[in-house]
This record gives sequence, C-alpha cells and structure tokens, in this order.
Amino acid sequence: MGRKLKFNIFRYNPQDPDSVPHTDTFQLEETESMTLFIALTQIREEQDPSLQFDFCCRAGICGACAMIINGRPNLACKTLTDDLPAEITLMPLPIFKLIGDLSVDTGTWFREMNENVESWVHTSKTFDLEAEEERMDNSLAEEIYELERCVECGCCVAACGTANMREDFVGAVAMNRIARFMMDPRDQRTGSEYFEVIGTDEGIFGCMGLLGCEDVCPKQLPLQDQLGILRLKMGWSAIKHLFRIK
Ligand code: SF4
Ligand code: SF4
Ligand code: FES
Repeated sequence: MGRKLKFNIFRYNPQDPDSVPHTDTFQLEETESMTLFIALTQIREEQDPSLQFDFCCRAGICGACAMIINGRPNLACKTLTDDLPAEITLMPLPIFKLIGDLSVDTGTWFREMNENVESWVHTSKTFDLEAEEERMDNSLAEEIYELERCVECGCCVAACGTANMREDFVGAVAMNRIARFMMDPRDQRTGSEYFEVIGTDEGIFGCMGLLGCEDVCPKQLPLQDQLGILRLKMGWSAIKHLFRIK
C-alpha cells in the first residue's frame, strides 16, 4: 500500500473572467515509480478533467513540463513522488505568460530571447549546398555540444532573482547561448559585437552571480563557468572599448 499523497495545485484560468487564482487540493495513492507526470495525469483523468499542465516527451528532453515543485523549479516528468514529501505543492513557473493552472507559454519568451541575443551563427560565407561539411576539432565540438544540451525549460529563468525583478534581463540561458556561439569558429562576430549584445546591464553585468540558475538546471549545464568566462571576456571588452585598444 503506497503513501497517501496530498497535492496543492495552483488554479487560475486567465481566459475566464470569473476565474480567481486559488489552490485546489487533490488526494492520490502513490504507486511504484510514480512521477509527477503520472500523478497529474491520474488526477486529470479521475478527478478534474479541467486541470491544465504541459507534457510532451516525458523523458526530460522537450522542457515543456517545468513547474515549481515544493518551491523549486524542476521538470515534472523526471520528478519521482518518492523523492518528495507526502504533501506536494505545484505552482506554474513565474515570469512566463500563464496559459492556465500549471501551463505557461515559454515558447514566446524563448523566441524573443533568441532574437534579442541573435542566437545563430553569424557568417559572411554564402551557404553552398554542394560544399563538403566543415570539419571541427572533436574536443571543441564536444564543448559546444555540452552547452547545446539546454532544453529551454525555463527553470533557470524562474529561479533567477534578477529575472524575477527585471523583465529586460536576458537570463543565464541567453548567456549560455552566447557562450556557445563565442566558442564556434564558424561565427565571425568580433568581441565588440558580442559586447553590444551581452555586455550590458540587461546581460552579464546585470547578473548578481548567486547561481540559483545552475542550482536548478535539470540538465546540469555548467552555467557558473560560462557566466564567469563571459564576465571576464566582457570586462576586457569594456576596458578595450574605454581605452580605444584594438
Ligand atoms: S547567477 Fe545571474 S543568471 Fe544565474 S540566477 Fe543569479 S542573477 Fe540569475
Ligand atoms: S539552462 Fe538548464 S534550466 Fe535553463 S533553460 Fe536550459 S536546461 Fe533549462
Ligand atoms: S515532458 Fe518533456 S521534459 Fe518533461
């Protein structure tokens, strides 16, 4: 016989003018290897078909299921109830637009972020469909891939004090994207071009460095290292700019 779990779940439907933010409580018997995905699906199927939450891959790959689980952002599909106390409180991620209950629109935020920091390879080369693919040193490719593992779940943004206070702050995820392009030899941007994008108060100089982002990243991305490297590089760019050093 499993534990009796008590779920306190945030409810609000911004589409419904009569809806007011509140918490609903549901009881459930825990089963073996139960994840929050299984628990929420069971609640929706057996107790409340109107409950809104997002899942897609159920394997920690798509990033859709991030929510605040007992006060901490995490992926619900990878969270076992066994690792939680019997009383579980679920809230939607802050900062992102609420769709309803636990469902938020991370897609719009991430598209805007990627556009703002110009998150693509900048090159003057024209694309040649017939050309052989460019070779890259294996260890460098692996370093870049390490940063590419981000699933854009939004946990780091939700946990960031600066992002919670300031709508214009780009967040660790954006700085991780820039760090990835700075490593890429195909990207021809100069130090001062990167400086314009990220060497700002909305970028690396707005970061308080307390590393809530790295603490909660479900993919264990090395955000601390990347923020440190960026701060150093952008600091040098600022000095060069100030003293007109080429
Ligand atoms: S270290 Fe910077 S990006 Fe990370 S949570 Fe703190 S303020 Fe946000
Ligand atoms: S850096 Fe980590 S926490 Fe942030 S969006 Fe990517 S996977 Fe999620
Ligand atoms: S459902 Fe895809 S990461 Fe959880």
